[in-house]
Amino acid sequence: MVPLPTLQWMDGFLRLLDQRKLPSEETYIDCKDIDTLADAIKSLAVRGAPAIGIAAAFGAVIAAITSDPGRAFEADFHSKLDILEGTRPTAVNLFNCLEIQRDVFRMSSVRENAVRDLLKSARDMVRDDLEASRRMGRFGADLLKKGSTVLTHCNAGGLATAGLGTALAVIYEAWDRGLIKKVYADETRPLLQGARLTSWELSRAGIPVDVLPDSAAASLLRKGEIDAIIVGSDRIAVNGDAANKIGTYPLALAASAHCVPFYVVAPLSTFDFSTECGSEIEIEQRDRNELATLGGRKLLPEGVGVWNPAFDVTPALLITAIICEKGVLFSPDDEKVLSVAGKS
Ligand code: MRU
Repeated sequence: MVPLPTLQWMDGFLRLLDQRKLPSEETYIDCKDIDTLADAIKSLAVRGAPAIGIAAAFGAVIAAITSDPGRAFEADFHSKLDILEGTRPTAVNLFNCLEIQRDVFRMSSVRENAVRDLLKSARDMVRDDLEASRRMGRFGADLLKKGSTVLTHCNAGGLATAGLGTALAVIYEAWDRGLIKKVYADETRPLLQGARLTSWELSRAGIPVDVLPDSAAASLLRKGEIDAIIVGSDRIAVNGDAANKIGTYPLALAASAHCVPFYVVAPLSTFDFSTECGSEIEIEQRDRNELATLGGRKLLPEGVGVWNPAFDVTPALLITAIICEKGVLFSPDDEKVLSVAGKS
């Protein structure tokens, strides 16, 4: 599997595949300043927890290039990173990657060194993310039997990472091993990451994929058509609770009711060791327009409110296993999460 061109460092700027336009157009956004990048993250031109984190890490390079070279350099740099941190609150990768970059910046004495060191650090993140994807793919595929039909939610593929994916890395590897019969992708209301992005990714890889409305997933499980559910995550708490795209939690409830294994695939960069449990995770609320309009058409009468959380939290109790680059955590809990990260 060749990594998707989700994000590419050019010479002095970051080029992002504009995911808002997929699948009808494959166009790119060139981020040469922080505001352009912040807008791309907020508006989901680049999205998915690992991709947001790595994009922000390259953003730190842009911040160092574009900050006031004088005495305000350090303050200017950090305020640009604050802007990036303010874009989306749930995916912890954003904060983890920016914290690493702030540390790298503190270790570099002069501006030229800072640019060089931050760029190296961002490139290391790309390399590590690709390697983590390959490893998670192998661990996850080991759990699937031949002829599996699997269901996924949102997009946890190459588009959501440095290019290979988390949940979809498992599916790509299992497909290569001849284990996958078919993939079902939830359409993922309201922004349709499953319909627009996951089906685009899987079909270009030649993997049979059917899209279903989110609300049809439980019926499909009851029919006995699904062998495993495989999703990504935006933040995993110490007790194993996992935040992911809204609609993941009901899927996990339905999987439990129908005794279907429910796997969460996420690299350690998505683990939050400062958050004890899922109820502490901040859930992003998105704009009314995402529900009030569809394809430019008005759906809601004036004055009608919305509740539009971008994510929900699946309790560890409903997760059969978390698959990370270090291995598989069956029935995840504090002890297993801390020990896989070497923190116990
Ligand atoms: O709002 P999005 O599209 O950024 O949400 C993305 C998801 O919820 C993904 O499932 C998650 O980030 C894992 S990506 C490997």
